[in-house]
Amino acid sequence: MSEHRGPATLFRGISELHTVSAAGVIQDGAVLAEEGLIRWVGAAADAPAADEVIDLGGRAVLPGWVDSHTHMIFDGDRSAEFEARLAGEDYAAGGIAVTMNATREAGEERLTQLLLERIAEAQAGGTTTIETKTGYGLDVPSEELAARIAAQHVDDVTFLGAHLVPPDTDPEEYVDLVCGPMLDAVEPHVRWIDVFCERGAFTEEQSRRVLAAGKDRGLRGRVHGNQLGPGPGVRVAVELGAASVDHVNYVTDEDVAALAASDTVATVLPACDLSTRQELAPARRLLDAGVTVAIATNLNPGTSYTTSMNFCVGTAVLQMRLSLAEAIQAATTSGAKALERHDVGEGRDPHGRPAKGTIVPGAAADLHVLRSAHAIDLAYRPGVPMTYRTYQAGHCIYDATPAYQRSAQ
Ligand code: NIG
Repeated sequence: MSEHRGPATLFRGISELHTVSAAGVIQDGAVLAEEGLIRWVGAAADAPAADEVIDLGGRAVLPGWVDSHTHMIFDGDRSAEFEARLAGEDYAAGGIAVTMNATREAGEERLTQLLLERIAEAQAGGTTTIETKTGYGLDVPSEELAARIAAQHVDDVTFLGAHLVPPDTDPEEYVDLVCGPMLDAVEPHVRWIDVFCERGAFTEEQSRRVLAAGKDRGLRGRVHGNQLGPGPGVRVAVELGAASVDHVNYVTDEDVAALAASDTVATVLPACDLSTRQELAPARRLLDAGVTVAIATNLNPGTSYTTSMNFCVGTAVLQMRLSLAEAIQAATTSGAKALERHDVGEGRDPHGRPAKGTIVPGAAADLHVLRSAHAIDLAYRPGVPMTYRTYQAGHCIYDATPAYQRSAQ
């Protein structure tokens, strides 16, 4: 610590510090944060002096979760569709139109309120970085509104006009709209462009057009692919250099090899697979082949109505057969890679922003404090609320300290 930059806070009383970096897991660790960034990481015995000390009481600490795939801007209720599915109906992409109608009618104030409630819920589960998509407006004014609201509250906003062709609309005319006037309207608010490349949604040729139109405006690509059956999604994503291809339930050996040889992250969505009673995406097979795998919630009203990264990580360990370390990495640094916010040295991302999903000097001071001393409890104690506190850029944004403990502090 050569220069003084502002009040420095030392976090100590950390039983297991999961740095998700070359430093691995530090027993009895400590973290020094200053001006929203991590300045020092190491054993508590070696910790530097600080202006303030926060004792975390012997709890495990991880980087805040990076939820790299959500659909947070929507209104409407689809619980009846979910119940019908439990009674044996298949999931079909057409349910998106139900949410479209409710979202178009909701208005700015209500959509903002709903978004803020969902963000708060995610933060209460240890999430500090959120990507969200548009894609339930599906006309120019509604997509613009969704993108604008999202950009006010979320770092990474993705334009998903190509989520579904609205009912009674010609598909080619709709793709023209997405690639032209709709893209014009959302462009100031978004960093990413996405397409649902799937039978019943958009064809390979249409998907390529959408991603190319976004690229012309400087937007980076992402793809929903291979969710409902084998298809071209992975191939398109890899060929066009998308940052991530998400779902990846039905992948061929060629798809796996192409992903392993690329920089494209494969994002698995375990809560979605459970909600649709689909076979879980082959995360183990992908990791074994050398693919970078991220885990995200896919929060949406149709297939995955959860903000809980804790649940997704626990499921990845219990059902997808990832080790705890693999699951934590998938939900932190690999999610950050899917958003191009991963650490490529000095704790900065390729755009010079502080990296997310890792506890190293220079990265954002985003810390997820668990209620327990051992992070394995994420899988060992399924369904139990595991988040004790969430810190984002050094600020406590969620605190679950029970009342009886607060009065004792
Ligand atoms: O990721 N696959 C496309 N989009 C969502 C489902 C959206 C919906 O059914 O409302 C998904 O599963």
